[in-house]
Amino acid sequence: MMKSRLLASYYSGNSISKVFFFRKRQPRCFSSTSKSSFEKVGVIGLGLMGHGICQVSALSLAHKSITAYEANAKVLEKGQEKISRSIAKLVSKNKLSEENASAALDSIVYTSDVSMLTDADFIVEAIVENMDVKKDLYRKLDKMCKPETIFASNTSSLRITDMANVSRPEKFVGVHFFNPVQIMKLVEVIKTDYTDTVVFHKAHDWVTRIGKVPVSSGDTPGFIVNRLLIPSLVQAMLMLDRGDATLQDIDVSMQLGAGHPMGPFHLADYIGLDTCYFILQGWVSNFPEEAAFTIPRCIEQKVKNGDFGRKSGKGFYFWDGEKRGDPVTE
Ligand SMILES: NC(=O)c1ccc[n+]([C@@H]2O[C@H](COP(=O)([O-])OP(=O)(O)OC[C@H]3O[C@@H](n4cnc5c(N)ncnc54)[C@H](O)[C@@H]3O)[C@@H](O)[C@H]2O)c1
Repeated sequence: MMKSRLLASYYSGNSISKVFFFRKRQPRCFSSTSKSSFEKVGVIGLGLMGHGICQVSALSLAHKSITAYEANAKVLEKGQEKISRSIAKLVSKNKLSEENASAALDSIVYTSDVSMLTDADFIVEAIVENMDVKKDLYRKLDKMCKPETIFASNTSSLRITDMANVSRPEKFVGVHFFNPVQIMKLVEVIKTDYTDTVVFHKAHDWVTRIGKVPVSSGDTPGFIVNRLLIPSLVQAMLMLDRGDATLQDIDVSMQLGAGHPMGPFHLADYIGLDTCYFILQGWVSNFPEEAAFTIPRCIEQKVKNGDFGRKSGKGFYFWDGEKRGDPVTE
């Protein structure tokens, strides 16, 4: 029997984690059989997500060039190093030919000069999860870029419509990648009420060309994955608040009864309770009428105590690095 592999990743910023279960290793590189309709792609922000998006875009060999723009020179250098190291590793493991590796690396232009993006056909933004910072950037891009340039935000929790409204609403989509980008296959492509249908299809097609699997979503909080995932964790926490069951029994139930790779409390600890809390706070204040968006007492208390889960060594469980310990009983 093929050995199952648990792949989990967490996002420690203002957003969210994604945890998935794979039966087999996913390919890390993909050579597109045909060119994308976008010759020149821009990636903004070369942090955790941006460097991955830049790498997979380059490895698809579907574009003439990828311009990677990052405001912080150190991050730019680090991002470049990470991409080069990761591509070299693929070559050393015979997963990529030297020729394709060189072609991919040669296609990337690293810069801290935003004006290098003016003639991009498609720009994916992966900067800090802050609406004001993103809006400032989009106002600037809208003035600077050619009228045909399509903008795409990788935000996890902000409304795409709000960013689109300060720039070019009909040429604006969301492309929500999952962490780590090199491995996770899914990309949610988000359409607002103003997105031009052709623009949406081009973005959707681009996702396929870079070897990912696109799904379409409206501009709803959490899009598809997080909209389903976070409220399910909330329900488990509410059960704990009410004393309906112990956290161990809830976790075991979802593993053995629903076939989930890990129970909701284990998963919440893995994501980071602060991250879950941050998302819930945003949803509760922006969508007070939505009953599924509520903050359970147990998570509020833990976050106030600084118990963030795996990253702090204590949450619903004790943690020793990646290793889960006993449940916290107090
Ligand atoms: N980390 C995740 O798991 C994850 C998953 C999906 C989506 N996202 C989203 O991706 C985006 C980026 O997240 P991240 O985890 O990669 O963050 P990160 O902090 O690792 O990287 C963000 C980068 O953007 C740069 N930056 C900030 N403002 C800039 C500007 N005005 N111009 C150019 N560069 C700028 C920063 O220097 C930083 O390097 C966020 O919107 C986040 O919600 C994150």
